[in-house]
Amino acid sequence: MALTRRKLLAGGAAAAGAAVAAGCGGGRAATTATAPRAARAAENLSTWAGVRAELPLDPKLRHFAAFLLAPHPRPVQAEIERHRRLLDADPEGYLRAADERVDAAGAAARFLGGGRDEIALTTSTTMGLAILYRALRLGAGEEILSTVHDHFATDEALRLSGGRVRRVRLYDKGDPASASADEIASRLEQAIGPRTRAVALTWVHSGTGVKLPMDDVAAVVRAAGDRHGAKVLLCVDGVHALGAEDVRLSDPARPAHIDFFAAGCHKWLMGPRGTGVLWGTPAAWRRAQRPLIPSFANASYGAWIEGRVPPPDPPGPAMTPGGFQAYEHRWALPAAFAFRERIGRERAAARIRALATRMKSGLAEIRGVRLVTPRDPDLSAGLVCADIAGVDPGKTVQALAAERISATVTPYAQRHLRFGCGLAVDEADVDAAVATVARIARSG
Ligand SMILES: Cc1ncc(COP(=O)(O)O)c(C=O)c1O
Repeated sequence: MALTRRKLLAGGAAAAGAAVAAGCGGGRAATTATAPRAARAAENLSTWAGVRAELPLDPKLRHFAAFLLAPHPRPVQAEIERHRRLLDADPEGYLRAADERVDAAGAAARFLGGGRDEIALTTSTTMGLAILYRALRLGAGEEILSTVHDHFATDEALRLSGGRVRRVRLYDKGDPASASADEIASRLEQAIGPRTRAVALTWVHSGTGVKLPMDDVAAVVRAAGDRHGAKVLLCVDGVHALGAEDVRLSDPARPAHIDFFAAGCHKWLMGPRGTGVLWGTPAAWRRAQRPLIPSFANASYGAWIEGRVPPPDPPGPAMTPGGFQAYEHRWALPAAFAFRERIGRERAAARIRALATRMKSGLAEIRGVRLVTPRDPDLSAGLVCADIAGVDPGKTVQALAAERISATVTPYAQRHLRFGCGLAVDEADVDAAVATVARIARSG
């Protein structure tokens, strides 16, 4: 049994053994950790109004910013609050008890697929991408192929990694709405070279709303690796897919063939703020297990005390940054996955697709409005971007805000009006947003 940092804090190896013998944690805090949830009104997720009733949003607000930050649904909020109270009451005892028994990585693995030891827990997509690209091993002359469509988080993580990076355009700048799966796949195929060892891209582009056809992309990346005789890792920023689509990364019936997947859980999934995952396959981790921040994983701390180099921990724990965390948020992550499962993950994805389709259809009918996001649900998810001829998107966002409709401008060099059609909105919200855009377009 490895001597963990927490067991050391609890009094060293003897205490560690005693804690295990007592069935983990032990003591007053362990008992309170299992205290029943505070009573609350029954949840009814059979209707979308019932799902929305679980969100503590201002009822007057039409929240189209699912791509930014989600409200904590009631069960997530209750779980955060339960852990916070117990942690406040006994920081040391409850930390020891709960950290041993709440398995956030295990819950993420059940939701995404794969094993719990292949998932590093992060605080955001940005952190996951930074950890990944800095860790990726490249030989002399080897490169990462990225795209011109990625978010600041990917671009900067790549720049800071110091690795050699080349970029490809996958669809035309002037007309993302007419992107096609064939064109995306063939542009990518042509760009992968003999020295490419990883492809770094984003599943759903937050600058245009284009969703990459990931099955086609993965097939191209796999074939290029075979052609050049060296496996090419497919590394994906999946934040606008997780919770917007039914993301399953290692379903034996439909393997995703993604090697690394980084996502924050605090957007479409509506998980606790400041939580995220970096998922990798065992083979991919072997090319990137190089932690930047010391982990608090099992083997490391005890070995340090004893003056030894630690034996390697499994990749997920080893790549999970150590240091004390906002534990009540991390420990509430399983509640977010459970909430989504209770709603129904396919049902939620279909709902988001339907809302986005309604939004696109409505916007497309307005004279002077041009859709930036493809209409085809195979090439789009919950994000909808558009332009109004002659109107600055910033002005439109302000005019929408005056009607208590919360949307944003894409934070990219090319600016568009952007809506996130998540579970916080309904048909009436979409219709109200479309009507307001129509008014703005009419008055210029
Ligand atoms: C594509 C994309 N990746 C990453 C991020 C950053 O996500 P996080 O807040 O989880 O770091 C964003 C936006 O917030 C984004 O649009």
